[in-house]
Amino acid sequence: KDNSEQAAEFISQLIKNRILEHQKQSSTRKFVMGLPTGSSPLPIYKRLIKMVKDGELSFKDIVTFNMDEYVGLDHDHPFSYHYFMWENFFKHIDIQKENVHILDGKASDHQLECKVYEEKILKFGGIDLFLGGMGVDGHIAFNEPGSSLASRTRLKTLTKDTIIVNSRFFENISQVPTQALTVGVGTVMDAREVVLIVTGHSKATALYKTIEEGVSHMWTASAIQYHKKAIIVCDEDATDEL
Ligand code: GLP
Repeated sequence: KDNSEQAAEFISQLIKNRILEHQKQSSTRKFVMGLPTGSSPLPIYKRLIKMVKDGELSFKDIVTFNMDEYVGLDHDHPFSYHYFMWENFFKHIDIQKENVHILDGKASDHQLECKVYEEKILKFGGIDLFLGGMGVDGHIAFNEPGSSLASRTRLKTLTKDTIIVNSRFFENISQVPTQALTVGVGTVMDAREVVLIVTGHSKATALYKTIEEGVSHMWTASAIQYHKKAIIVCDEDATDEL
């Protein structure tokens, strides 16, 4: 797409279509979405909110699982992904609170928290559509370079680069948590469909490594080359190195 707004428009229409198709099949199983944070998905959330407000779409029967959460931040901490998701999306739509799942970065037992998260995804029948972004180092969720491509939800230590990039959301770099709970690459790959939004020149190298080089655990988003139903929607700037 020419720009990030057009990329967001394409993805929001795709999401709407998938949800409506699922409802038409009158499946008793709820549609399950995987959701990212970051600045790239914001224009998508803005559009989905408008669709709900205009009565074109409802999230009443939709279940969501977020990709990741920082370790150590309370849910109402302004830099937590809980806060981000409620402020930027959930509080504006008709989703039911019990259908929203976000890893608890304050959980006392990280391993248990991650195991239960995976079990819950299975209980809801798996993820139908995983929407994701991409880090400048090609990470998906918080699967930093070097992550196993078969990884499941777990605790990850963030790389120095990611901490620096993400410090733009914090007042200063020392506030950025150094660890996160994140779904694994394997968790994303199990979704029936994966859609990644990649916008801006800062993602150009990552996009090149992800799609034009081989699958590599050093650019974890490249795993989607093996996915049966995955697309990357990008803007012109992100294609600078293709
Ligand atoms: C963080 C998130 C990722 C996200 C990435 C890119 O690292 N854990 O899920 O894809 O940021 O964010 P942005 O869209 O702001 O570039």
